[in-house]
Amino acid sequence: MKDPLFTNKIAGAILAALLLIFGLPQLTKALTGGGHHGGDGELHLAYGGDIQLATAADHGDPEPVVTLAQLMADASIAGGERRAALCKSCHTFEEGGANGAGPNLWNIVGRQVASVSGFNYTSALQEAGGVWSYDRLDAYLKNSQDYIPGTAMTQRFARDNQRADFLAYLSSLSNNPVPFPELEVTEAVTEDAAMGMATEAVEEAAENH
Ligand code: HEC
Repeated sequence: MKDPLFTNKIAGAILAALLLIFGLPQLTKALTGGGHHGGDGELHLAYGGDIQLATAADHGDPEPVVTLAQLMADASIAGGERRAALCKSCHTFEEGGANGAGPNLWNIVGRQVASVSGFNYTSALQEAGGVWSYDRLDAYLKNSQDYIPGTAMTQRFARDNQRADFLAYLSSLSNNPVPFPELEVTEAVTEDAAMGMATEAVEEAAENH
């Protein structure tokens, strides 16, 4: 006669495999109908660490490192323009605008550093060379003295999103704006792919029992 506990053993093995793979909280959620769909966008796999699912819920997460590309994607040209009042005591922004205490900033993104004719730049800024990329402008506005020691501009703008707004506004001061930095596509695992992997793992684990 068949072992009367046979079915129970199989069920137990499958449950153990599921526990191994999903961990108790995820499994409880799945069994109680919560599933990962309404969840936190993460699937905890015992063997492979966490797989981050790219879901809409991720957007509000306080990630420690936010790239300039991300900040700029969320930036506001209008907000930057409003805040640019802080620059106007020294800079003009319109095409052909006069130099003040600082040089005219029309077309500043992608422009050669220290290249406005008739403006008396410090040798520090002249020697910096190259062109103003978004990254370099960001570093200059964050802490100009750290970035280019000896430059005559001393204003510091500590807030990342505020600088991103400035950069968005500066980019608009051009007949041919330089595209914003591109958002990097990181290892965004699609939900389907993750579920596929999990299903395979469950089947494999069940077979091995
Ligand atoms: C108190 C005056 C002052 C204020 C306010 C000021 N700047 Fe400046 N800025 C300067 C001076 C002076 C220079 C030239 C620095 C040098 O020659 O080393 C400069 C240079 C620059 C440059 C480099 C220009 C080039 O031709 O290479 C950028 C970009 C810039 N400022 C952006 C800004 C922005 C954006 C703001 C506002 C958020 C701002 N500045 C506020 C005085 C100022």
